[in-house]
Amino acid sequence: MKLYSALLGLAALALAGTGWAQQPIVIKFSHVVANDTPKGKGAEYFKKVAEERTKGKVKVEVYANSTLYKDKEEMEALQLGAVQMLAPSLAKFGPLGVPQFEVFDLPYIFDSYAELHKVTQGAVGQSLLAKLEPKGIKGLAYWDNGFKIMSANKPLRKPEDFKGLKLRIQSSKVLDAQMRALGGNPQVMAFSEVYQALQTGVVDGTENPPSNLYTQKMHEVQKHVTLSDHGYLGYAVITNKKFWEGLPADIRATLEGAMKDATKYANDIAKQENEAALEAVRKSGKSQIASLTADEKKAWKKALVSVHKSQESRIGKDVIESIYKETGFDPNKL
Ligand code: LMR
Repeated sequence: MKLYSALLGLAALALAGTGWAQQPIVIKFSHVVANDTPKGKGAEYFKKVAEERTKGKVKVEVYANSTLYKDKEEMEALQLGAVQMLAPSLAKFGPLGVPQFEVFDLPYIFDSYAELHKVTQGAVGQSLLAKLEPKGIKGLAYWDNGFKIMSANKPLRKPEDFKGLKLRIQSSKVLDAQMRALGGNPQVMAFSEVYQALQTGVVDGTENPPSNLYTQKMHEVQKHVTLSDHGYLGYAVITNKKFWEGLPADIRATLEGAMKDATKYANDIAKQENEAALEAVRKSGKSQIASLTADEKKAWKKALVSVHKSQESRIGKDVIESIYKETGFDPNKL
């Protein structure tokens, strides 16, 4: 009898042992935008394929819309290991001590997604991601959002229209310089606070691609939108380096494959998501949408090109030039 219960006990232990071994690896993927955006959809796609292909060994929990952390907090949480994956905008790496990513914020540096992809899908993009490693962060991929539009409660057609406006920006010194070059007063603010700040007049205007404007309902509190396409907004998908390198090799390889496919998916939908969002803003009738004439655009470019030079010491001349080389951009031709 004694032997019998001892055996039962052993069996229970063994079962508990397997139970323990089968606990899934949890990846908390936190982000600040709505689910219905290129990044939100990309995160959900990654969850789906990662969970399917690891057959339940990995569970991905996506926390959208700053439900877990806001901009600054999510970076800290990743470094501390409280979350395992993020996709912050490339404009948010300065506070981490990697200001080189702000090269992506330079006004008019990319004319199209195709030009941008030469960088994000090539050697220059990889060398930028490598700069995260000393911070305990591994860069896995670049995900697109799109080209930014400007919004306010007054029409913004000429650089002079920005004079004195309080403008919300992300935590990028290049964006600060950009808004100052237009005569505005930039204010750094977490994404989750922008709608309310616009609504209450804490700030007068802002910039973002259409999908962010629309899904945060900013168009309901901004009477005017200008299709300036003056800059790019995209993301680096990042993970905690220690966590990533500590994964079993087969799981890590499967997750790398899932990330590759999620990246293709996210980048394939980004443009159309932004076009659809812009159409929805138009249909809402809440914001007037203005396009710039060729001359107006020229005036914007003229006002903003100085930012390339003034931010050289922050970003690094070599980094800026490596991008010019990839895309064929010539600041003298702006
Ligand atoms: C912003 O703060 O405006 C954007 O970075 C939000 C985002 O993640 O797209």
